[in-house]
This record gives sequence, C-alpha cells and structure tokens, in this order.
Amino acid sequence: MTETTFTPRVFSGIQPSGDLHLGNYLGALKRFADAQDKGVQSIYCMVDLHAITVPQNPADLKRSTRELAAGFIASGVSPEKSILINQSQVPEHAQLAWIFNCVARMGWMGRMTQWKDKAGKNAEAASLGLFAYPALMAADILIYHATHVPVGEDQKQHLELTRDIAAKFNHDYGVDFFPITEPVIEGAATRVMSLRDGAKKMSKSDPSDASRINLTDDADTIAKKIRKAKTDPDALPSEVEGLKDRPEARNLVNIYAGLNDQTVEQVLADHGGQQFGTFKPALAELAVSKIAPISTEMARLMSDVTEIDRLLAHGAEQAREISAPILKKTYEIVGMVG
Ligand code: AMP
Ligand code: TRP
Repeated sequence: MTETTFTPRVFSGIQPSGDLHLGNYLGALKRFADAQDKGVQSIYCMVDLHAITVPQNPADLKRSTRELAAGFIASGVSPEKSILINQSQVPEHAQLAWIFNCVARMGWMGRMTQWKDKAGKNAEAASLGLFAYPALMAADILIYHATHVPVGEDQKQHLELTRDIAAKFNHDYGVDFFPITEPVIEGAATRVMSLRDGAKKMSKSDPSDASRINLTDDADTIAKKIRKAKTDPDALPSEVEGLKDRPEARNLVNIYAGLNDQTVEQVLADHGGQQFGTFKPALAELAVSKIAPISTEMARLMSDVTEIDRLLAHGAEQAREISAPILKKTYEIVGMVG
C-alpha cells in the first residue's frame, strides 16, 4: 500500500462545561491562535456532545457554549482565519463516531485514565457516552482528516487512542484513508498546576477558586491570586535543575514563560536570584496585561449572542464542506448503500 500524504490541517476542541482558566489558555487557546497564525488551515470546536457525557443543565450548557465561543475569539482565534464550530451543529462528528464505536475495543476504552477518574468507583452508574467519549473525540479529528492536534498534556492518551482507531480502521478495510494524527504538546505550559498545590493540575473542578485564574477574572483578582499563590522560601534559581523538587516555583516560572512566549531558561536568565517578593509582582503584571483584556473582550462579545450564533452557523457551513465528503467516502468503504 502506498503512503498517502495528507495536507496539514489542525483540529482541536474544548468542552463547554464551565469557566475557562489559565491552563486552558496556555495549554490550548493561546496555542490554537499561534497555529492559526502560521497559516495552516485550523478548525476549532466547542464539544457540546462531549459535555453531556455527564449531566448538564440545558440553559447552562447553552450559555457555556456561547461563552466558550467568546473565549476562543477573545484569545485570538479568528472566525475569519479559522473555522470555529459547535460540535452538534456538524452532524458528521456523531455519525463517524458510531462507526468508530464499532472499530474501538472495550479494552482500549477501559484503560483510559480520564474514564477511570470520571467514572470513579461507581462505573456501573456512568453513562455509556462517558465510556465511548474517546471514540467521539477520534471522530472529531478524523472527520476532517486533521493531521495535527494541539492540546495539553492530559489529552495525550486520548490522542494515542485516536491513532489506534485510525490504524485499525485502515487495516481492517485495507485502505489508507485516515491519517495517523500527531499530538502537538509543546511549550513551557502544557500542564499548568494549581496555584494552591503544585502537585495538582489547574482545573475548573477544583473547589478552591484561588487555585486557578479564570479568563473572566478582573485585573485585581488576577493580581491577588498570584500574590497569594503558594511558593517556597527560596530565591529563584538561575538554572532549570534548580527547580527540581520545587513544584510551586516551577509552575510560576512555567506560567511566566508561557505568557511571555519564552523558554524556562530565558525566564531564569532574567529572574534567577530574585525572591518571590520581586518575581510575583512581575508575574502579576504580566498576567494582568495578557489575561485582563481577554476577560473584557469576552464580556463584550457575550453582550451580543446573536452575533456569536451567526458566527457558529457560518463555521458549521464551512466545516460541512470538508466533513460531508469524508463521511460519504467512509460509508462507501464500510459498505453502506447510499
Ligand atoms: P478541558 O477544560 O479539560 O476540556 O480542557 C481543554 C483544553 O485545555 C485541553 O487541550 C486540555 O489539555 C487543556 N488544559 C486543561 N487544563 C490544563 C492545564 N491545567 N494545563 C494545561 N492545559 C490544560
Ligand atoms: N477531550 C478534550 C478535553 O477534555 C476535548 C476534545 C474533544 C478534543 N474532542 C477533541 C480535543 C478533539 C482535541 C481534539 O479537553
């Protein structure tokens, strides 16, 4: 079989299930805007079908989906340069997901750490959708033949499964139809940690609001959360090795590097030797200058939801021009009459 070369195309998604935070921004949104600005065709998605794998209040889901769209745009993802969509408005995602449900194996799904974490001890009571979640995620990506997927570190295992599904489909049907997608997990801040505990990921599900910076926080709140962030009593080292076993210090340096488009080495070259009494105000100033304008812009966009809905309808139309022919060809390969 000859190797097909696939045109580079970027796809990524975020769940509309609550407030966006600095981890989403540095691990995902900011990097989506960077990828788009490199000129590669990019498709970014609010994954509302993924959100309902756990119970959602319908009115909140609607609001969160629009707010996420505003978050994408305010973070620099342009609906003119990228295709911006809401998952359920492009039905081919769910249609391909069914095919992938029949390709993926129960054993593969059962090994996913996100499934184990979210289902917890009571897996019997979890939804079937939560178990099948990664097959829908593979469909999101492969319905566009996307080749590159920028995400945070926590999504690595799901992307490996996406590769397994593509490879098994290609193998079972003797085709070279789906690309083997590359995860793009890079930069200083692929795993932003809680501001209260350097061993825990910054997450919207942390009960303490002080543990994260929300993209909707105002300047004062951002500065205050950084001032109060947990640290240790030592000065910053001038070499990366000096951050070993100092998770809180490492996290703040990573955040600085991510926000300022620098490497950790560069940040330490500039700030090594400083006490946190000096470094934290510098970080607070940087974070306020980058994050506060996003929150202002999100609020502005949210004041006109009709415009957001119009942009999403337009995105869905553009997306379907790519997804519909790929689904048609998939059905042909599988043997559906049509
Ligand atoms: P979620 O909010 O879990 O749907 O995640 C949306 C995107 O943000 C995914 O690409 C995640 O990998 C990324 N992400 C979430 N939390 C973090 C974090 N603490 N650090 C870096 N990236 C994150
Ligand atoms: N599972 C991802 C998360 O929780 C969201 C997601 C759904 C996604 N489909 C995707 C990410 C496709 C990248 C590509 O963050």
